[in-house]
Amino acid sequence: MNNQRIKKEIDRRSFLHSAAAAGAGLVLSPMVVGQAGGAAKPDDINIALLGCGAQGQVLMNACRNIPGVRFKAVCDIWTAYNQRRVSRLLKRYGYEHGTYVDYKEMLDKEKDLDAVIIATPDFWHAEHAVASLKAGLNVYCEKEMSNTLEGARRMVEAAKESGKLLQIGHQRRSNPRYIHCYDKFIKGAKLLGRITTVNGQWNRSKAACEDLGWPKKYPLEQASLDKYGFKSMQQFRNWRWYKGLGGGPIVDLGSHQIDIYSWFLGANPKSVIASGGVDYWKGHEWYDTVMVVYEYETKEGTVRAFYQTITTNSSQGYYESFLGDEGTLTISEARARGSVFREPGAPDWDKWIKLGYLSEPPKKEEEADSGAVLDVRETVPVAEYKIPVTMDKPYHQPHLENFFNAVRDNKVKLNCPAEIGYETAVTVLKVNEAVAAARKLDFKPEEFKV
Ligand SMILES: NC(=O)c1ccc[n+]([C@@H]2O[C@H](COP(=O)([O-])OP(=O)(O)OC[C@H]3O[C@@H](n4cnc5c(N)ncnc54)[C@H](O)[C@@H]3O)[C@@H](O)[C@H]2O)c1
Repeated sequence: MNNQRIKKEIDRRSFLHSAAAAGAGLVLSPMVVGQAGGAAKPDDINIALLGCGAQGQVLMNACRNIPGVRFKAVCDIWTAYNQRRVSRLLKRYGYEHGTYVDYKEMLDKEKDLDAVIIATPDFWHAEHAVASLKAGLNVYCEKEMSNTLEGARRMVEAAKESGKLLQIGHQRRSNPRYIHCYDKFIKGAKLLGRITTVNGQWNRSKAACEDLGWPKKYPLEQASLDKYGFKSMQQFRNWRWYKGLGGGPIVDLGSHQIDIYSWFLGANPKSVIASGGVDYWKGHEWYDTVMVVYEYETKEGTVRAFYQTITTNSSQGYYESFLGDEGTLTISEARARGSVFREPGAPDWDKWIKLGYLSEPPKKEEEADSGAVLDVRETVPVAEYKIPVTMDKPYHQPHLENFFNAVRDNKVKLNCPAEIGYETAVTVLKVNEAVAAARKLDFKPEEFKV
C-alpha cells in the first residue's frame, strides 16, 4: 500500500473510532457523509469504475444512491462511446474524476482510491481484480468471477494475500427477500420440511437474445480489439457467446440462480449431468439451450436439482423453486414473484404468520379443508402464502452497500466473498464441461477449495 493510501486508512479508522466513542454509531446517513460535490469526509470511499458498459452503468447508478461513495476514476477501452458516456454523466453529477484506457495506468496514477468496481467481460476479471488487490484496493467484481477456474483461483489467493476485500457480484445474496427466505423459511421455521428437489430456470425471449449491435460511428479500431482479446466488433459486443471470453447463458444467467441452490441447500453438488447445444443461434460458440441436473447430498439426504436456460422463449421467466415434503418456496429476483405453498397434510403455519414470517393467511384454506372427499391421486390446490419483505431498491444496491459497509467496518462480513464466488464458479463452469463430455461428471469436495 502506498503512503497516501495508508494515511487515508488511518484517518478513516480514527474517524470511525471517534464516531463510535461519541455514540454516533456507524450508520452513515446523508447528513453525515457527503454526496458528489460536497466537501470530502474522512470516511468517504473513493472508487474507480473499471468497465463502463451496460452493467458498469447499472452499478454506477446504484452507487450514486449510497452516501459517501465518490467516483474518482473510470477506465474503459471504448473511449469514444461507453467511457465518454459514463464520464460525461459523472461530471454532470459532480464527480471530479480521471479517465483511463489502461487499468495499469489508472492504478498507478490514482493514489487516493479505496476500491475498484469491476464490470469488464468475464475473461478480464482475474487480471483486473488481482492487479487491483495487489495495489492495496478493495474490489467488487461482477460475476462470473472468472471464465476459468485458474483465474478464479488466482483471485481468491490475491484476496487472501492482500488482506483486502473481494466481493463477487452475485447480488441476490444481499437481497432482503432472499435473506428472509433463507433465514426464516429454510433455516428458522423449516417450512418446506425435507427438501427433496429444486428446479429453476431463466427463459429469455428470442427478442432479448438477438446479438447486440453498436453505433456505427463509434467502432473500436481493429488494433484495439486485437490488443484486448476480441476478434471483431461483433465479438466485442457479444463476448458472452464466445469460448475464452464468456460462458454462454448457463454461466451468464444460470450462475446467479445455481448460486442460490447451493446457498439454500447448505451444500455443494456431488455430480452434474447436462444437455445443451448451439441449437438455434448462428455463429455462436456457447450453447444457447442448456438443461442440467445436479445431485446434492445434504444433511437431510439427497436432493436433485434441475435448471434450464433457453434463449428462444420467455415462458415463465426466471425463478428458483425449492420443493420439500411440507412445502414449496418459489422465489425470483423479479419483485412480483415469491410465494410459499403449504403441502396438504403439513403442520399449519399459524405460528409463523403470527411471528411475521409469512404475511397473509392462505386464501383457499376453507375450500381445501371444506370436507370434500378427494381421491388421493388428485392434485389438491395448495395454500399460497406471500413473502412479507419487499425489495424497494435497485437490484444491485444492497450488495454494493454490504461491500462498502465492509470496507468501512471490518466487523461487517461480505455476503459473497471470493471463496463463495469460487464455489459457485466451480459448480457452474462444470456444466459446460458436462455438456461437452455427454456424461455425468462428479465433483470432489476438495475441488471447491482453493
Ligand atoms: N450481476 C448481474 O446481474 C450482471 C448483469 C449484467 C452483467 N453482469 C456482468 O458484468 C460484466 C460486464 O457485462 P456487461 O453486460 O456490462 O458487458 P458490456 O460488454 O456491455 O461492457 C463491458 C465494458 O468493458 C469494457 N472493456 C472490455 N475489455 C476491457 C479492458 N480490458 N479494460 C477496460 N475496459 C474493458 C468494454 O469497452 C465495455 O464498455 C460481466 O462480467 C457480466 O457477466 C452482471
